[in-house]
Amino acid sequence: MSAAEPADLTVADLHPALGDPALTSMNFLNEVSERYPAAVSLAAGRPYEEFFDLAAVHRHLDTFHRHLVDDLGHRPEQARRLLLQYGRTKGIVHHLIARNLAVDEGITVDPEDVVVTVGCQEAMFLVLRALRAGPADVLLAVAPTYVGLTGAARLVDLPVWPVAGGSAGVDLADLAAQVHRARAAGLRPRACYLMPDFANPSGVSIDSAHRQRLLDLATQEDLLLLEDNPYGLFHSDDGPRPPTLKALDTGRRVVYLGSFAKTVLPGARVGYVVADQRVAGPGGRVGPLADQLAMIKSMVTVNTSPLAQAVIGGRLLEHGCSLVAANTRERSAYTRNLRHLVAGLARRFPALPDQPDLPDRSAVRWTVPAGGFFVVVTVPFPVDDALLDRSGRDYGVLWTPMAHFYDDTAPVHALRLSVSAVTPEQIDVGLDRLAALITDEVTRRAG
Ligand SMILES: Cc1ncc(COP(=O)(O)O)c(C=O)c1O
Repeated sequence: MSAAEPADLTVADLHPALGDPALTSMNFLNEVSERYPAAVSLAAGRPYEEFFDLAAVHRHLDTFHRHLVDDLGHRPEQARRLLLQYGRTKGIVHHLIARNLAVDEGITVDPEDVVVTVGCQEAMFLVLRALRAGPADVLLAVAPTYVGLTGAARLVDLPVWPVAGGSAGVDLADLAAQVHRARAAGLRPRACYLMPDFANPSGVSIDSAHRQRLLDLATQEDLLLLEDNPYGLFHSDDGPRPPTLKALDTGRRVVYLGSFAKTVLPGARVGYVVADQRVAGPGGRVGPLADQLAMIKSMVTVNTSPLAQAVIGGRLLEHGCSLVAANTRERSAYTRNLRHLVAGLARRFPALPDQPDLPDRSAVRWTVPAGGFFVVVTVPFPVDDALLDRSGRDYGVLWTPMAHFYDDTAPVHALRLSVSAVTPEQIDVGLDRLAALITDEVTRRAG
């Protein structure tokens, strides 16, 4: 839009979240990618597109249709209606999601406690909308935080208080301190949001013992935990995965947020929430939080596209409801890329400066995650959007400034690299370009 174009409304008269960095962040990052289409993108956290298969989508649909008729005993017209008509608000693949959670995660879930949503993003929105009852409510979130969570919180006027993450994935002393601080100020911390497995953006995971301590603290403090787990299946070692918080949850402390974007197809836009918390309603009737979320959903998206759900359902059925089994090829590609990227960083930024005529690049550090899509690189200068723009234009490489994942304006000396949508060759080119940018920036600042 041009500045000279007459305006009919101003942003100041719209919801205050509009114009907030949490909401403009994703658009900005997409715009930069569009501006420099030839750049190597180590920015996008999208799954690898070469695995997408249109023919398989048709097959999944057929598989799910057969399941409706053969396994569930639906008559042909009932099955057709289920796929093509408006449908059940909580979804039509809830039973398969429950089976998937049992097979892959050892989580026992009543399918009635599941709401199938338009991506995990809608699940986050529904939960935050439900939890935000009044102006005293606040949400705690481990920082750095996925920007989609912060944006959804803004839309429901729920302040987000950062909790230190640190190398353990969540600093329990800080979590307890934030809960106490909020309560002392007359506020109600409704929940703490976190990603225990290969978090976006930090890449950090929480170990099993710390997960148990976190659950114990949540019980002690009477706090809900919102567990978001889009990356858990993509672990790079062959050992057992730590149990999810939900698998350890014996007291209905954990609301579990799931996404099929990375494990099946992002284009299907299907995710879900497991909300088994008991809610007492008027007249003493007690039902799952899932039913309350469904009520909100009925006023937001009505129901998740049954066709999209059928595609996900078919894929699940074709792999015995195991996404671990369905993603062996994806897991090995992401693991290969993650190792390639970490080794490539080590080669380009040796621990000690080995070339005295070059500026000291040894201040460059990075995380070595045990899986997932993301590596965080710390550099000796602030990383902002202007630097990203220059990186795209002059160096042909894109990445994500870590400042986008912090809910304040303090300068951040770090950037996020993603390995999910690139080949090892593209990683090499991208890292060469990133190394050139970092060297030039260090030199420029030293000079
Ligand atoms: C941590 C996290 N949660 C949720 C989402 C959104 O998932 P969906 O595409 O299912 O809405 C993403 C997407 O990248 C994510 O990284």
